[in-house]
Amino acid sequence: MEFILVTPQAQPQVALIQLNRPKELNALNLQLMGELRDALKELDENDDVRAIIITGNARAFAAGADIKQMAGKTAIDMLNVDQFSTWDQIRKTKKPIIAAVSGFALGGGCELAMTCDMIVASETAMFGQPEVKIGVMPGAGGTQRLTKAIGKAKAMEMVLTGKFITADEAEKHGLINRVVPVELYLDEAFRLATEVAQMSPVAAKLAKESVNRSFETNLDEGLHFERKNFYLCFASEDQTEGMNAFVEKRKPEFKGR
Ligand code: CAA
Repeated sequence: MEFILVTPQAQPQVALIQLNRPKELNALNLQLMGELRDALKELDENDDVRAIIITGNARAFAAGADIKQMAGKTAIDMLNVDQFSTWDQIRKTKKPIIAAVSGFALGGGCELAMTCDMIVASETAMFGQPEVKIGVMPGAGGTQRLTKAIGKAKAMEMVLTGKFITADEAEKHGLINRVVPVELYLDEAFRLATEVAQMSPVAAKLAKESVNRSFETNLDEGLHFERKNFYLCFASEDQTEGMNAFVEKRKPEFKGR
């Protein structure tokens, strides 16, 4: 891996992926995205990992897709490279992913954070979809996820003017989970990831899948999907353990089976 650093047990059961192109503000070139896809797939298959954090550095989570790599491309080049199929695979990660964001989260950087399940931000974080300023538009889910997260009016303003919003604004509009001082954002992401990692991994996967389904379907189908996943939990040892532990007034020991 050249452009990311992966620590499978950064803390017990919590993996950390750090985007690592600091000089380019972690611009998301094709290789970096391929590495990220491969790392997530590996961590998803690793039974010792129950939650994953993706972070950048204090100055930048990621300043977007790599503009220099795209600048000379034609539409057919873009079609053939099909860079967003990598993103589709990232979206299919079953384990919970937390984005720990500081500094710039722009364009594809904002879209990557939104592809994660929760976002913890430092008070210096800036979120934006500035593609319109370089003659394009969001291409990795920005028009869809941002609109669903913060509503049409605010999303439209960000996408049509390219203006950034601060971490406080992003929290106010429901884009992110919380804002903490810059020296604490990674600690806070670990705290949240550790909390998630203590739950049943089976239930967490099924619950993540069900929440994401709400973006893709109508209420009737979504409720049907949720119900099936709820019933499926009862096929797990974790369900027996969790309910027995409640009755016996002890802490459950979930095994992810
Ligand atoms: N792609 C390639 N290189 C980038 C980059 C990007 N998205 N963002 C920053 N860089 C590079 C700069 O070119 C510069 O490199 P050099 O030193 O070699 O010139 C280095 O990172 C540092 O950047 P700046 O000197 O520009 O730093 P700054 O503090 O003055 O400005 C910034 C920071 C406001 C984030 C500015 O870099 C910027 O506007 N970046 C582009 C943001 C953007 O438009 N993102 C959307 C990309 S398109 C996209 O993401 C499509 C999609 O939906 C997937």
